[in-house]
Amino acid sequence: MTFDFHKYVASIPDFPEAGVIFRDLTPLMGDGAAYAAATDAIVAYAKAQGGIDAVVGPESRGFIVGGPVAYKLGVGLIPARKAGKLPRPTVKQDYELEYGGINTLEIHADAIKPGDRVLITDDLLATGGTLQATIKLVEKLGGIVVGTAFLIELDALHGRDKLAGYDVFALMNY
Ligand code: PRP
Ligand code: ADE
Repeated sequence: MTFDFHKYVASIPDFPEAGVIFRDLTPLMGDGAAYAAATDAIVAYAKAQGGIDAVVGPESRGFIVGGPVAYKLGVGLIPARKAGKLPRPTVKQDYELEYGGINTLEIHADAIKPGDRVLITDDLLATGGTLQATIKLVEKLGGIVVGTAFLIELDALHGRDKLAGYDVFALMNY
């Protein structure tokens, strides 16, 4: 059965600032059947990429997507957290935000072993800065990014260009 995922996206003009159309995925996440079907689509993609040792999700919406995917794949979820949240030694990576400014993501230094095959998940690919930083963190620890998966890709922002050389799966394109 095909699922009309677009029905579960609310498009909000001029949020959080003028000119941005915010693609709100909380209706999808709040509907059991839609959330399960979206999870299953990413799990099917992950399985097609071959063995996955871990799922990495950037804070915070990447956790909402990655948690159920990791559970269904039978692997762990590794959080890539915003600066200063993780208590033990980390690797760090700065990146630029779509709405301006610089942010930092961190992963615990022992979370990924060299050679681990990693799937990165997030709710949305915009400029690609968040994902590019997350890929760098995984690779600093010797992990292999075998796929990246999103619920939404914003085509006009060309985030996919920053992910050249990596496999990208998006459930919906806007
Ligand atoms: C949003 C979204 C992605 C990122 C996409 O996260 O969840 O992670 O922006 O933008 P990019 O492709 O231009 O990097 P945000 O930083 O707003 O944090 P949140 O998940 O905590 O809301
Ligand atoms: N994160 C970055 N850009 C976004 C957008 N347009 N809608 C929802 N989340 C976003």
